[in-house]
Amino acid sequence: MKRSRVLVVGSSNTDLVVQAPRFPRPGESVMGGVFARFQGGKGANQAVAAARAGAEVAFAGRVGNDEFGESALNGLMQEGIDTSLTVRDENLASGVALIIVDASGENEIVVAAGANMGISTGQVDQAVELIKSVDIILTQLEMPIETMAYLAETVDHCGKSLILNPAPASPIPESVFPRVDVLTPNLVELEAISGTRIETVEDIEKAARGFLRKGVGAVVITQGREGCLTITPEESWWTQALPADARDTVGAGDCFSGALAVALAEGRSLKKAVCFATAAAGISVTRLGAQPSMPYRHEIDSVLEGMKNE
Ligand code: RIB
Repeated sequence: MKRSRVLVVGSSNTDLVVQAPRFPRPGESVMGGVFARFQGGKGANQAVAAARAGAEVAFAGRVGNDEFGESALNGLMQEGIDTSLTVRDENLASGVALIIVDASGENEIVVAAGANMGISTGQVDQAVELIKSVDIILTQLEMPIETMAYLAETVDHCGKSLILNPAPASPIPESVFPRVDVLTPNLVELEAISGTRIETVEDIEKAARGFLRKGVGAVVITQGREGCLTITPEESWWTQALPADARDTVGAGDCFSGALAVALAEGRSLKKAVCFATAAAGISVTRLGAQPSMPYRHEIDSVLEGMKNE
């Protein structure tokens, strides 16, 4: 089968991670376990997830001219990802994320975005030919919101499909929504971007339908071990998560969005694509680190095969 082609525009970070029995309260110090350094950043994680899931991937981002930036680019190139549209910024440092992972695999993250906040509309202009040639474009919000909005406009003008993972949650210009084919928030992000309190499934549906009315094609709300809820103008359905022992959920949402992009680019229905992405994310949470945890295509296929035979 011909490999699908995915362009990811977004962030790259170095993740500095400590495992801890629990998250500290304000003012409290907690003794943690070993320290680990991984390649991360929502955009770069999604690019690695898409590449390992079987697509030919290009990544357009921005890193500093420093050791972290060098490692980030090398890591992406080792995955076979085209980084020719990623800029090395002479003035801004590479992005860094400080991460705590607790005993249940949940995480808390603070990001020093650095060069990610330099991702520019000029970089989008340079990507136009690529945008025209790929099957799907995937982006997030760990970069200037104006750049994301300009990307959405450009993708729309090129007649291509866009997946927006609205993470970390920040206000999204109204003009963006009609240009988004699939929106992939988690519950926290859905609450933040809709500006509504979410306590029940009805609240989720109501918030998601608000985005459909604004022109979004479909909303897929990821809910960790609960699975995910997909809402389109015609129907809505739950997809169960894999029964996995979560060790580290960092990057699970990125894994989901990256795998979803690949499955949609291959022409699968949204229902099948969501199953594919759910299987990928279910594997990723059983492993440590963001990019190292992304599963390969044969692993996703074998989980899906196993589910068919159950
Ligand atoms: O989504 C997980 C990612 O968020 C981490 O890799 C970290 O870098 C932050 O961007």
